[in-house]
Amino acid sequence: MATLVTGGAGYIGSHTAVALHDAGRDVVLVDNFSNSSPKAVDALRALTTPDIACVEGDLLDPATLERAFTDHDIDEVIHFAAYKAVGESVEKPLDYYGNNLGSTIALAQAMADHGVRRLVFSSSCTVYGQPDENPVTEAAPTGAESPYGWTKFMSEQILTDAANATPLDVVLLRYFNPVGAHPSGTLGEDPTGIPNNLVPFLMQVAVGRLEKARVFGTDYDTPDGSGVRDYIHVMDLAEAHVAALDALSDGLSGATAVNIGTGVGNSVLEVIAAVAEAVGRPIPYEIVDRRSGDIAMTWAATEFAADVLGWRASRDLDEMVRDHWRWQSQNPNGFE
Ligand code: UFG
Repeated sequence: MATLVTGGAGYIGSHTAVALHDAGRDVVLVDNFSNSSPKAVDALRALTTPDIACVEGDLLDPATLERAFTDHDIDEVIHFAAYKAVGESVEKPLDYYGNNLGSTIALAQAMADHGVRRLVFSSSCTVYGQPDENPVTEAAPTGAESPYGWTKFMSEQILTDAANATPLDVVLLRYFNPVGAHPSGTLGEDPTGIPNNLVPFLMQVAVGRLEKARVFGTDYDTPDGSGVRDYIHVMDLAEAHVAALDALSDGLSGATAVNIGTGVGNSVLEVIAAVAEAVGRPIPYEIVDRRSGDIAMTWAATEFAADVLGWRASRDLDEMVRDHWRWQSQNPNGFE
């Protein structure tokens, strides 16, 4: 039996594939390589086993899912494949709704057709919008601020309805801010174009691909005025997926939303200092206006993840940026 991982060549998918292998599972990837590299698959096979299968294709093409489920003995699924750029989603809402919702529905239907009932879905703390209080619990009100965020909100709703009406059991993992890389330095995040996210941007400054970082506002109501987020090591996040599959195998039923964070908030200025420490020299930056749509601060309540999944993050910010830097310094141009 094998675990199907959609978007398996992407940043979180590829690290999760390593964690699944390390936990003794057989892994089948599906990816259309629209925002990922086949070289990520080479890297993860080198870290694990050449036997990891990869179905190349789009989830919106019925032939892709048919091949995945008939050529392989799939008994559980993790669904990562999605468009993920918040700004782009505002420009191209129909592309985002069409791709992210269409693929989720097609995948859930294929699972039903093939009698597969255990699913872990890649969701986001973006479903909490601007939270009223921190730490954010799973009971906090949900909504969204962008078409991207709405696709996560709506996918959660679709899968919850399906879980209520059919044998599907699903864990909706609401990630906070994933950073870091596999400790080998051979697998990591490789964003296309100029990175939107803070740590990839800082890393490209550190290797000289970008001149200086920008801090989007130091006038927030936070201890140092810059935005505060809950950064989580991608390997901790990867292990949370294994824990979620184990919980489903052990009988967790219906639809269960779980926060995946460390419970610790760090500011932009603290992250810049941590990266400078890992790199061994200062990171040049300028303070600019707030980025539209950003919130002041958010971090996760972690008790529910510990209770329901038996999982807690174990790696701190210094380890995240050290591992991210090892990857970036060994691969200044990513997988190219
Ligand atoms: N930031 C900067 N400079 C940059 C990039 C980011 O100062 O160049 C700041 C942001 O203002 C924010 C923090 O760094 O305070 C983190 O920003 P990211 O873009 O790395 O992450 P976000 O928290 O904005 O976004 C993340 C995910 C999204 C998700 C969103 C939900 O990347 O997928 O959380 O809140 F939608």
